[in-house]
Amino acid sequence: MQIDKHKLTTITTQLIHRHKGILAADESNTSCNKRFAEYNIPGTEENRRRYRELLLVTPHIEKYVSGVILYDETIRQMTLDGELFRDLLKRKGVLIGIKVDLGLEPLEPNSLETKTKGIEDLRSRLFDYKQMNATFTKWRAAFSVSDTLPSEKAIEENCELLARYARVVQETGMVPMVEPEVLLDGNHTIERAKIVTEKVLEKLFQALEKHEVYLGGLILKTSMVVAGSEAEVEASHELVAKHTAEVLKKNVPPHTGGVVFLSGGQNPQYALHNLNEIAALGPYPWQVTFSFSRALQAPALDAWLGEDSNVGKAQELFIERLELNALARQAKLEHGKGYISRHHSAGVRGLFWVLVLFIIILLIVL
Ligand code: 13P
Repeated sequence: MQIDKHKLTTITTQLIHRHKGILAADESNTSCNKRFAEYNIPGTEENRRRYRELLLVTPHIEKYVSGVILYDETIRQMTLDGELFRDLLKRKGVLIGIKVDLGLEPLEPNSLETKTKGIEDLRSRLFDYKQMNATFTKWRAAFSVSDTLPSEKAIEENCELLARYARVVQETGMVPMVEPEVLLDGNHTIERAKIVTEKVLEKLFQALEKHEVYLGGLILKTSMVVAGSEAEVEASHELVAKHTAEVLKKNVPPHTGGVVFLSGGQNPQYALHNLNEIAALGPYPWQVTFSFSRALQAPALDAWLGEDSNVGKAQELFIERLELNALARQAKLEHGKGYISRHHSAGVRGLFWVLVLFIIILLIVL
C-alpha cells in the first residue's frame, strides 16, 4: 500500500513545533488507577474523566503543547458540559494522538521480559481512531536493564513489532510515534543505560528500514540516557545530556521527523533540567522536545487529590510545568532557577558590568 509522504510530513511538522512539546495523557486505566491509589483516589471511570478534564481544559495549554496522546477510554470521553475531549482539543488547535498498543505480555512463558500486544487487529482499530480525528499514534515497547538484559530476542521481536506497527499506521495516513522505552528500574549505571539504548535504537532503525517506513513521517519517542532509579549515583544533568546527545546523533538518521522524550519516572525537576541541557547541546538534525506524562502531571495530581476545590491550584501547577518544559526544550532555563532565560540573564549580567564601569569612571573623574 502507498504512503502519502506529503500528508505525513505536514502532520509531523505541526507536531514537532519549535516552542512546544507533546502531553502524554494516555496512561491505561490500570496505570492511571495505580497513580490514583497513591492518593486514595478511587480508580473509577468518572474519576479518570474528571482528572483528564482538569488537564485538558486548563486555559492556554495550546501555547505549550502541539499534541496530546489519549487512551482509548479518554478519546471517547467528554467534559461535564458535554464537549468531547477530542473536539475540545481540535478547537484549541492541538493535534489528537492515540495509544494503539494493547499493553505488554511476557516475551515467553515465565519470562521477565515483555513484548507489546495489539498488532493483529491494528488496522481496523486505526480506522476507527482516524474517524475520531486522531492524526498520530503511539506504540510502546519496554526493555528491562541488567548486566544481561535486555536479551537479543527481546530487542529483535519488539523492534520488529514497532516497525510493522509504524508501516501500517503510515499506510492509514497517520504519523506513528515509536516508543522503545529503556526502563529506569534497577541499579544500573548510566554507562549501561547508554549501551542498551544504543543497541535498541540501532536495531529499531534497521527494522524500520526493512519495513520501508518513511522516516520523515515518523517520531521517535525515546528515553533519556540516565542511571537506574536505584543506582548509587544520580548522574548530573550535563552527563545525561552528553550521553543522550551522543546516542541520538549516532543512531537516529538525520531525516527522521522528530525526537521526543518520555520521562520514565524521573522526578519532574530532574527531567526538566535534563531536557534543558540536552537542548543546549543542539542543534541536532531533528527537533527534540518533551512528551512526558509523569514529569508534566505529577505536581497537578499532588495538588488535586480528587477534590473539585483543588482544580484551580492543580491547573496552575500544570500550566507552570508546561511553560517550564517549553522553555527547557529551547534551552532557556538556568540551573535551579526555572524561568530565567540564558539570553535574559546574559543581558542582566551585561548591564551590571556597564554600571560598575560607569561608577569607576565617575569616581576617577571626580
Ligand atoms: P512518562 O513520561 O511518565 O514516562 O510517560 C510517557 C508515556 O508515554 C506514558 O504513556
